[in-house]
Amino acid sequence: MSAAPILRIDHVGVRFGGLVAIADLHFDVAEGEIVSLIGPNGAGKTTAFNVMTGFLKPSQGRVLFKGEYLSRLKPHEISRAGLARTFQRTSVFAADTVFDNVLIGLHRHAEPPLLDRVVPARRRADEARLRARAREILELVGLASRADELAGSLAYGEQRLVGVALALATEPTMLLLDEPVSGMNASETQVFVRLIRRVRDEGVTILLVEHDMPMVMEVSDRIVCLNYGRLIAEGAPAAIRADPAVIEAYLGKGGAARELAAEVQG
Ligand SMILES: Nc1ncnc2c1ncn2[C@@H]1O[C@H](COP(=O)(O)OP(=O)(O)OP(=O)(O)O)[C@@H](O)[C@H]1O
Ligand SMILES: [Mg+2]
Repeated sequence: MSAAPILRIDHVGVRFGGLVAIADLHFDVAEGEIVSLIGPNGAGKTTAFNVMTGFLKPSQGRVLFKGEYLSRLKPHEISRAGLARTFQRTSVFAADTVFDNVLIGLHRHAEPPLLDRVVPARRRADEARLRARAREILELVGLASRADELAGSLAYGEQRLVGVALALATEPTMLLLDEPVSGMNASETQVFVRLIRRVRDEGVTILLVEHDMPMVMEVSDRIVCLNYGRLIAEGAPAAIRADPAVIEAYLGKGGAARELAAEVQG
């Protein structure tokens, strides 16, 4: 990779008691890339996201974002630095409208200068600006026509789009998406692929965790594959698809048994 990476996972390890969730994970993401992090259930993907976004302290190693160590930053500080995420389980404000969800997200992120908060005319101008930005974001994710509906009344797939809108409300330079198309049908997934590309074209680097392999193969510039917390392959989609270690992880006994166990556990 020629340019300095926007994100570097630098030999990160995470242990939960005796369980090694991630071991010596090392990879870079370059600015403007769409990279996918794949692997069977329990491979450590969400744990990796939790380390990157400050929800978990790694037992070993460190994460660099735009050349800065994230180790000492709290989740909201990391979000302010421009690294946003969506969550594997949807978390929208169900009793608020779709529009208000995004507006709340914008308010939370954009702490206006004191004068803008206390001078009424300035406060109104600031509010108008945020409302216009909320409409833009809803347009971008394809939820403009649902703006006035309660977020909790939307279909599961659409609620995931609200999660993306909330992440975009922090005006990120990099976006981590944790299984964004789970619960979406094939045509919704296609729309989502176009959305990811559009967001990237607006200058947002993407790191995607997803089990939908056709979607991952279609959208990714590069793929990083984990199994039992370890990096087992890294490369272009065509190389990953043909990689014996990746095939073994997904189809081999260990991977299949783990997936089954996770399904049983719910
Ligand atoms: N807070 C925790 N405490 C203890 N163990 C945990 C915790 N979080 C995750 N684990 C374990 O760490 C391992 C990695 O889990 P993780 O959620 O990162 O996997 P994943 O790759 O995101 O899986 P999935 O595809 O099912 O979402 C699993 O064995 C999981 O049970
Ligand atoms: Mg996960």
